[in-house]
Amino acid sequence: MKWTGLNELREKYLSFFESKGHLRLPSYSLVPHNDKSLFLINSGMAPMKKYFLAQETPPCKRVTTCQKCIRTPDIENVGKTARHGTYFEMLGNFSFQDYFKHEATKWAWEFCTEVLDLPIDRLWVSIYLDDDEAFDIWTKEVGVDPTHIVRLGKEDNFWEHGSGPCGPCSEIYFDRGIEKGCGSPDCAVGCECDRFVEFWNLVFSQFDSDGNGTYTPLENPNIDTGMGLERLACIMQEVDNLFEVDTMQNIMKHISDIAGITYKDDVKADVSLRVITDHIRSTTFMIGDGVIPSNEGRGYVLRRLLRRAARHGRLLGITRPFLSEVVDTVINENKSAYPELMEKAQYIKKMVKNEEDSFAKTIEKGLDLLTTIIDNAKDKILSGEDAFRLYDTYGFPIDLTREIIAEKGMEVDEKEFTRLMNEQRERARAARATGDAFGGSCNVIDIEGVTTEFVGYETLQADAKVLALACEGECVESVIASQRVIIATDVTPFYAESGGQIADKGQIVSDNCIVNVFDVKKAGTLILHSCEVVSGQLNIGDQVSMRVDKKFRNAITRNHTCAHLLQAALINNLGDHVHQAGQLVTADRLRFDFSHFEALTREQIETIEREVNKVILAGIDVNRYETDIQSAKAKGAMALFGEKYGNIVRVCEVGNYSLELCGGTHVDNSAKIGLFKIISESSVAAGVRRIEAVTGYEVLVLLDNNVKMINDAAKELKLTNSAELVSRCSQVMQELKDKATEVDRLTQKMADSRVDGLFENVQSAGEVNYITALLSGTKPDTLRVLGDKIKEKAPNTVALLVSMVDNKGTMLCVCGPEAVNRGAHAGKIVGKAAAITGGKGGGRADNAMAGVNDNTKIDEAFVALESIIKEVIG
Ligand code: ALA
Repeated sequence: MKWTGLNELREKYLSFFESKGHLRLPSYSLVPHNDKSLFLINSGMAPMKKYFLAQETPPCKRVTTCQKCIRTPDIENVGKTARHGTYFEMLGNFSFQDYFKHEATKWAWEFCTEVLDLPIDRLWVSIYLDDDEAFDIWTKEVGVDPTHIVRLGKEDNFWEHGSGPCGPCSEIYFDRGIEKGCGSPDCAVGCECDRFVEFWNLVFSQFDSDGNGTYTPLENPNIDTGMGLERLACIMQEVDNLFEVDTMQNIMKHISDIAGITYKDDVKADVSLRVITDHIRSTTFMIGDGVIPSNEGRGYVLRRLLRRAARHGRLLGITRPFLSEVVDTVINENKSAYPELMEKAQYIKKMVKNEEDSFAKTIEKGLDLLTTIIDNAKDKILSGEDAFRLYDTYGFPIDLTREIIAEKGMEVDEKEFTRLMNEQRERARAARATGDAFGGSCNVIDIEGVTTEFVGYETLQADAKVLALACEGECVESVIASQRVIIATDVTPFYAESGGQIADKGQIVSDNCIVNVFDVKKAGTLILHSCEVVSGQLNIGDQVSMRVDKKFRNAITRNHTCAHLLQAALINNLGDHVHQAGQLVTADRLRFDFSHFEALTREQIETIEREVNKVILAGIDVNRYETDIQSAKAKGAMALFGEKYGNIVRVCEVGNYSLELCGGTHVDNSAKIGLFKIISESSVAAGVRRIEAVTGYEVLVLLDNNVKMINDAAKELKLTNSAELVSRCSQVMQELKDKATEVDRLTQKMADSRVDGLFENVQSAGEVNYITALLSGTKPDTLRVLGDKIKEKAPNTVALLVSMVDNKGTMLCVCGPEAVNRGAHAGKIVGKAAAITGGKGGGRADNAMAGVNDNTKIDEAFVALESIIKEVIG
């Protein structure tokens, strides 16, 4: 057995299995695709579940990979021990309903003994308790010494991870020598000590587990093997733990150089070195696969790892941000197997740097606070409020807080912390529900004495300087591609949502970045832009060009000016009682609510529409200017009830047709509105009506849709000329009416002839006669007609009829006038008869209906009729 570097081992494994007919696939992303059961990929087989379950066809029935994996349940132990890590690579060979135990075991042994040259006497094998088949294969076919095989239980030798493919397994162990052992006479394979290391797991994947204890056998079994690359490297390099493997040492060396220390000089410092070495690997790969730090899901895992690493940097005495520098070494060590890391290097480094910078701002204060709390603590509990403050104000992931105080034997008041977290989540949810793209983050940016100058009345494009950036509820220095960010600038042409006019959309562009703006809000004197970085990097202080989406803004503007025209027209036509009660002006429509007490007539709507269009087509100039409130009111400007106006107000004046106080944006000439069309008029509350309308291009869309509808209807009615549509419609309606009359007539006729048939079986119950009949396919309506006929024809008869349509039975009972005089009562009779079938019903003395529940009991009800009648008559 010869010292082999980690990268070389990976290559040896993959090419060995290629030589056995396997297709080598690149590692899948750490972010699971279409698999909600996992945050992060945690084994070689996880991305291939669909192939194991035969739900999808694999590119080849034999596949081999080296898969990036992250497992975080032991995160607290990372660093403390030498063997725990969150990131590792898993080598695997997989058979999808192809080879099984024979080949899997044979090749594993061949690789260990012939390729790696591992000494046979130091190899051990474990099998699942009663898997005699595996025992026979290992001993008879592969030739393993039976004394080197142990049987272990479900705990060790049945592999499953949550739901999905699973099965019994067989593991290969390496004996590191008696001197590494615990010395106990019982020390053997399966012992917790460091002597026997399990390095290869061969899973005979033959069940699909639902994760709750139900195992469904798979039609054809699979092979899923997993070998920890770092563990194998430990064996091949004869080192004690993963942190001593060649590639890991290079990363750790970089960190210890920055800290100016040496590994194995100080036990405490070693913990920190291991934490950083492991975490910088996981985070580099996570970011490379598109994970972004956040407070939820895998974004939280990433944030927690980065912040835990940053804190350990402090513990080593490193006071400057350093993690992004170490990323270089991680990439360097991994670029041969993961060339994509090279392409994303700049991005990954920036992301790490940003997260480190934003934590750096608060970590000192947070740690100081924590130290004070710990020093003054009377009991061993950290209050939920303090834990929440550390989280919310100082950016300490709760797990980090827990870990730090645990070092002093303290605990968090979890109940209170959870309550505060839930409260915050609820606030964020409420903010989202009201369409707040800012998620309550507005107050994060709070720059005293600074005002954003709004220049959007005059221009749609302006140069500006970035004043502040906030990301995930924290102020940051810079942001990079794919981050969501709130941006404050000194100048903006972007209109912030107000007065019912929605916010502008558009882009913010600098020399090296593009940002999409999707919402804009006022926050005090600032105007904040809610954005997503499309590419590049944006920093505080950057000069940017702010560009409002012109088409979008123009459409909004047309609707807003037109809403003013609509208001004037409503007052002119309905009266002075009309006041605006709310409005919404978007790019595709305007919605205007106003006080009025009755629905508008078709004529009123048409008159109003025509009047507005007349003003539009007259091409009247629209004057927009600022003036003092007194002059505006003196001119007759309408102010809205309950609105507060400053001394200087903005006025919008359309010739002498409309004059209003308005801070919105408006066209400079009414003709630019194009055309106006009301699409609905309705009531929103007592005394408040709502009109929805469209202008400009949206009128064209409406027109196109209507023309298409007419043409389609004409086609359905087989017309070549759509002008005939209306006359054809009335013709069709008349035909339908005639047909309905005809159907009625025929139904009557059919009923007549049926009634005669019914009397063939007339029977008597004391003084009255009775008949029964089951009529399948007869609708309840027809049943009623039949009933009426029977009453007419046979006045002394009780009839119980059941109709059956689509397996649903309906019961009708009628009693002729004489029968009623003798005491018969259809309502009571049908109630009792229906009850026999489990159904219910009742009604008048001469006519009543009921539902049938159990169809098989209908005959029973018929048989019982005689006694029911007698009982009712008494
Ligand atoms: N899926 C198996 C494991 O992860 C091979 O151990």
